[in-house]
Amino acid sequence: RKFLQHLGRVTLVTVVTTTGVFYYVTQKDRHPGSQLPFDPTKKNIVVLGSGWGSTSFLKNVDTSDYNIIVISPRNFFLFTPLLPSVAVGTLSPRSILQPIRYMTRHKERQVTVIEAEAKSVDPIAKTVTFADETEVQGEVSSTTIHFDYLVYGVGAETQTFGIPGVKEHACFMKEIQDAEKMKRRFMDCVESAGFPGQSPEEVKRLLHMVVVGGGPTGIEVSGELHDFLEDDLKSWYPELSDHIKITLVEALPSVLPMFSKELIKYTESTFKESKIDILTATMVKEIKDKSVVLQMPDKTIQEVPVGMVVWAGGNKARDVSVDLMSKLPDAQKNKRGITVDEHLRMAGTDGTIFALGDCTSSSYAPTAQVASQQGAYLARLFSQIAKRDRLADELAQAKAEGRDTPALQKQVEKAENLRPFHYSHQGSLAYIGSEKAIADLVFFNQKIATGGVATYLFWRSAYISTLFSLRNRVLVANDWLKVKLFGRDLARE
Ligand code: FAD
Ligand code: NAI
Repeated sequence: RKFLQHLGRVTLVTVVTTTGVFYYVTQKDRHPGSQLPFDPTKKNIVVLGSGWGSTSFLKNVDTSDYNIIVISPRNFFLFTPLLPSVAVGTLSPRSILQPIRYMTRHKERQVTVIEAEAKSVDPIAKTVTFADETEVQGEVSSTTIHFDYLVYGVGAETQTFGIPGVKEHACFMKEIQDAEKMKRRFMDCVESAGFPGQSPEEVKRLLHMVVVGGGPTGIEVSGELHDFLEDDLKSWYPELSDHIKITLVEALPSVLPMFSKELIKYTESTFKESKIDILTATMVKEIKDKSVVLQMPDKTIQEVPVGMVVWAGGNKARDVSVDLMSKLPDAQKNKRGITVDEHLRMAGTDGTIFALGDCTSSSYAPTAQVASQQGAYLARLFSQIAKRDRLADELAQAKAEGRDTPALQKQVEKAENLRPFHYSHQGSLAYIGSEKAIADLVFFNQKIATGGVATYLFWRSAYISTLFSLRNRVLVANDWLKVKLFGRDLARE
């Protein structure tokens, strides 16, 4: 009894202390202190976007040297790697979003955050024109501002190749609304299939889910759909679950070309066990209201009835980027995105526009890993630029006063030597369903390819630790626990 009493007291003290520390940390986060005001003597950096690249820049930039203005159509950061989990209700949408002000309010100097979409950038006049395109607008909803430096991180949009019906009939997997739309559409198909009197052919059509694109997005969406089916729908819709069919269509001869050959094979065999059909060397030619038109490997055309199509066909440049590139035709010839130099300066400009992430066309893959390293690099670069400018001012002052300055001259020359961007690849990870993940990792310059349940646990721990904040980590961990205990939510919102 004494031991139990002692254990009880120790547990109570531990719980109270942990809760206290947790409360203190969260309260400090919730109530940021005062910030330095806007300083008209400092240079202005306008940041476009609140995705992986721009957010990493904002997190790392030293605001004592600059005034910063962020312009983005969404007032939050979206943790894209867990987006497919939202599409099947494993995670709640809110858990993977982080309002951008939760971060900017903690910076040393005030950061202006504007929810608006950049419409055009003038690289000569150094201006950005942007507009508020939300439902509610004030008297002013469009304006133009000047920048000293521009950090351009607007990302990319989904590539549809102009294929008829994609925009009208398919769900995308890029934004939080896309995941919510897919969940709604999927549940709608299941419920409609259960409507009394539905013919067997119609049930089969409604429950046929086609995912287009065998890149990591398409693979992860298929894996998550399979989990939803196995873990939940089989219990709650026993009369329908056997009719649910998932097909992945890929135009190339293999899925996941960026992963090693053994992991491609492992994914294909896992999908086979999971009864997910993979159609490689098969191209989607058109998407109709109730069917998808496929060009098969032997070039014949087949029209397949479908209930839902998810389109994960890759990236293309946004209109605002195409417009910006068209203003510098001699230097910007790559249609994939903005060409930058080794310091991420946009080619053809005077070095005041920097571009990063998916909106650029570089030798790096368009990944969060690249974008966030580029954001952190740019933050360091801006500190170097501020130091360089300070030293140059000091040198000019010394020269004007007729002082001898060889040491200062040397410091200026050193500061002018800006370090180029260097990407450090940490490996690639993807979830493939059935509590299995694949990973191509790099350890001490050694490549390791691994797949299975242990890799899935690594995948989970890697992503929970890279989540933006303690708040997101708690929300995601709570969602995972909720799903383990009660299953996924079937309610169609
Ligand atoms: P984004 O993160 O897309 O951000 C662009 C920002 O610009 C957004 O805030 C957007 O609202 C804003 N914007 C758009 N238009 C305008 C405009 N006109 N004016 C101003 N702002 C604008 N990568 C990995 O490395 N690992 C993964 O596991 C992984 N999983 C993924 C899963 C999914 C489902 C998807 C879709 C992508 C995944 N990626 C992953 C890729 C990764 O998300 C992108 O490479 C990354 O988001 C690129 O960052 P970015 O800052 O360039 O663009
Ligand atoms: P992707 O470009 O990697 O793959 C798109 C696929 O769609 C291509 O393989 C293409 O052949 C196929 N496709 C295009 N049109 C088609 C058609 N008409 N019919 C059939 N197939 C067609 O695009 P994805 O998967 O959206 O990824 C985009 C970027 O985001 C990539 O760089 C990827 O590495 C990154 N990403 C990384 C993840 C991870 O590391 N876990 C997860 C998701 C994305």
